[in-house]
Amino acid sequence: MTLNHTAPVIEIEKLSKVYQKSRTETIYALKDLDLSVHPGEIFGYLGPNGAGKTTTIRLLLDLIRPTHGRAAIFGQDVNQHSVALHQRIGFLPGELNLWKNLTGRQVIQYVARVRGGVDESYVRRLSERLQFDPTLRVRSYSSGNRRKLGLVLALMNQPELLILDEPTNGLDPLMQQIFNEMMLEIRGEGRTVFLSSHILSEVQSICDRVAILRNGELKAVETVTNLTHVDFRWVTVRLQQPVQPNQLGSIPGVSDISQTEGGLRLRLVGDFDPLLRALGPYYVQDMRVQEPTLEEVFLAFYGNHNAVHAGQVEGRVS
Ligand SMILES: Nc1ncnc2c1ncn2[C@@H]1O[C@H](COP(=O)(O)OP(=O)(O)OP(=O)(O)O)[C@@H](O)[C@H]1O
Ligand SMILES: [Mg+2]
Repeated sequence: MTLNHTAPVIEIEKLSKVYQKSRTETIYALKDLDLSVHPGEIFGYLGPNGAGKTTTIRLLLDLIRPTHGRAAIFGQDVNQHSVALHQRIGFLPGELNLWKNLTGRQVIQYVARVRGGVDESYVRRLSERLQFDPTLRVRSYSSGNRRKLGLVLALMNQPELLILDEPTNGLDPLMQQIFNEMMLEIRGEGRTVFLSSHILSEVQSICDRVAILRNGELKAVETVTNLTHVDFRWVTVRLQQPVQPNQLGSIPGVSDISQTEGGLRLRLVGDFDPLLRALGPYYVQDMRVQEPTLEEVFLAFYGNHNAVHAGQVEGRVS
């Protein structure tokens, strides 16, 4: 028997979910989604509120049924094999609302017993690492502590695939850092992570690829490296003599020039040469180049996309 090691962990084809919005109106919470997630990658599923992230995750876990389309995990249809698949998946729901009268420890013990095969010392290490206090009742946990409990529950049986709905939501920056380290270790073990977020900067340092979803439709799937290289860079130049932004005139590929403390900051599309030539008469003390953040790339994809290209065209024609 030959094993195909590159077979996707998650394979989604034309997956759609229609909801009845009102008596007469329906909406596509998810429309014709095609997506594959590969073994050993951290995949970021990004989109603003209402984009369809939770809907996708609920479909993957067979908590809701699709209107049409299909999804498979580890090559098995999620509707037909959900019980077996759940054994191999760690799931963090967007909101943990169950078991309010139990303590964190009781919840963990209960879930561990149901699942079986959970290593107690591993659970202890997880709780310590997340600085999670298991002695309080779930109802009294802050949202961040509920998220930590959810993470312990999702991670404790060391699943091959983690599906995490907004895992960093409510975590303070230190905890986010710890979470990131944990995810990178999980990837190092060859396991796969699918996580949703609406804050790109929170996940860009750990994700291999990200998908951008809006209004139920997939807008882009890219490696983080590629996304941070699209379209433009921010360039900050410090010139010896003071120069006002409008003194530079129009430079092909350059837009959004502004005066900052570090010097003139501008947005550059395409080659550097036109900018370097325009700076020829000046003494350049310093020049820094910054990739756009995913947040900016995200804005460039939606809404501002035209503005990015308008800047580009304006620079070229004038
Ligand atoms: N049970 C439901 N009945 C009707 N509409 C629903 C239902 N669940 C979700 N929706 C709608 O489907 C769309 C997608 O919702 P979803 O919860 O998947 O978004 P999301 O990307 O997870 O958003 P958020 O970032 O706010 O969590 C929204 O317009 C939402 O109002
Ligand atoms: Mg959601």
